[in-house]
Amino acid sequence: MSDNKVILNYDGKSFEYPIVDSTIGDRGIDISKLRDQTGLITLDLGYKNTGATISEITYLDGDKGELFYRGYPIEQIAEKSNFTEVMYLLLHGNLPTKDQFSNFETGIKKYNFIAEEMKRIIDAFPRSAHPMGVLSALTSALTAFNPKAVDVKSKEEMDLAAELMLAKFSHLCAWTYRKTQGLPLNHGDNNLNYVENFYKMAFRLPYEDFEIDPVVVEALDKLLILHADHEQNCSTSTVRMVGSAHTGLFASISSGVSALWGPLHGGANQAVIEMLELIEKDGGDVSKYVAKAKDKEDSFRLMGFGHRVYKNFDPRAKIIKKAADDILGKLGIQDKALDIAMQLERVALEDDYFVERKLYPNVDFYSGIIYRALGIPTEMFTVMFALGRLPGWIAQWKEMRLKGDPIGRPRQVYQGAEKRDYVDIANR
Ligand code: ACO
Repeated sequence: MSDNKVILNYDGKSFEYPIVDSTIGDRGIDISKLRDQTGLITLDLGYKNTGATISEITYLDGDKGELFYRGYPIEQIAEKSNFTEVMYLLLHGNLPTKDQFSNFETGIKKYNFIAEEMKRIIDAFPRSAHPMGVLSALTSALTAFNPKAVDVKSKEEMDLAAELMLAKFSHLCAWTYRKTQGLPLNHGDNNLNYVENFYKMAFRLPYEDFEIDPVVVEALDKLLILHADHEQNCSTSTVRMVGSAHTGLFASISSGVSALWGPLHGGANQAVIEMLELIEKDGGDVSKYVAKAKDKEDSFRLMGFGHRVYKNFDPRAKIIKKAADDILGKLGIQDKALDIAMQLERVALEDDYFVERKLYPNVDFYSGIIYRALGIPTEMFTVMFALGRLPGWIAQWKEMRLKGDPIGRPRQVYQGAEKRDYVDIANR
């Protein structure tokens, strides 16, 4: 290997592959000619060493525990910015001027309603349906009502599709919750900002005026910011993969919602609270559950612990842990789950198993405690994550389409049966 290329010796020949530079972080070996030149492909289960694209949106350093949106450290963004500004930043690359901010907000507000026919679709789901399943289906169904967001090619068309999606998706998130509660479905209120609007649409009761609680809005805003993007994670890669076939934005986002639902990904926030409740019911002995998580015969894992990329503290977890403390204090709530979470963290971080494997709390370890304090039911936690992740999904989709990345189509190492002849059923 020299500084700017890698040399591969194979089958008596030598091949050179250039190294692609980064601004910061991992550099990549460009192996696009590998198969043509050598007949070989790479095999990397779970894509642990594979760069799927070149991106300019989000940077994270898993060893240092750093996360930047468009170059800005997450700590500064979480403290000083707001979710609408972060949506703009991710989608357009820079912090907005006052005019840009106001035009962006107005653009989204233009679409602050949803087709009445969508109510009939949501009506057909049982009330017991998991909100993530309903959200994924409704997001895909939106395509039918917003044909302008389907066959988009120019940057302007993509930005319009993005504003439509941002406006409509917050309705769907609110509606999936109201469906579980049997509450009437609301449209938006343009006197409010994005987060207040969602909050009112979701939680307004039909028989009383709705008061915006600034403590709740501030907490929601912060959680949404912290979830807004995380480079090439499972759901984002799904959105990019589906979108790479030039599938419309809404259908691509719907696939991201499904990917996020899994308990190894966004579904972990629900799984964490269920785990903390289980430990509490079982007498609160955290060491028993740490032992279970270490036992290879036991399928139990410490939910909210570990991360594919972070081998250090997830910087979002640090911010959320402090926010959980603050918000519970402000709301005057005592939650046993928070005590158990802190004990679990302490025991795990002193245990060789977790230390050796560099397993630390991730973004989901404390987020559920805040959602619960705000009165959001457990099954809605992953929907809240989806609402936060939406601008990241759209920004990544837009970047991929504008750069003209080719359709995603991995190869495989086949180890199945060799060619054989069909045998009629009577002779098998
Ligand atoms: N509890 C116990 N052991 C764990 C945990 C955990 N939460 N996470 C990883 N390990 C162990 C594995 O058993 C493995 O041990 P081994 O080397 O002895 O076989 C080792 O640590 C490495 O784990 P992998 O599963 O190979 O790591 P991977 O990068 O594939 O998985 C993942 C990362 C899926 C996040 C994993 O840590 C996990 O399942 N965590 C719990 C679920 C969770 O919190 N998910 C949310 C992630 S953040 C997000 O998506 C928003």
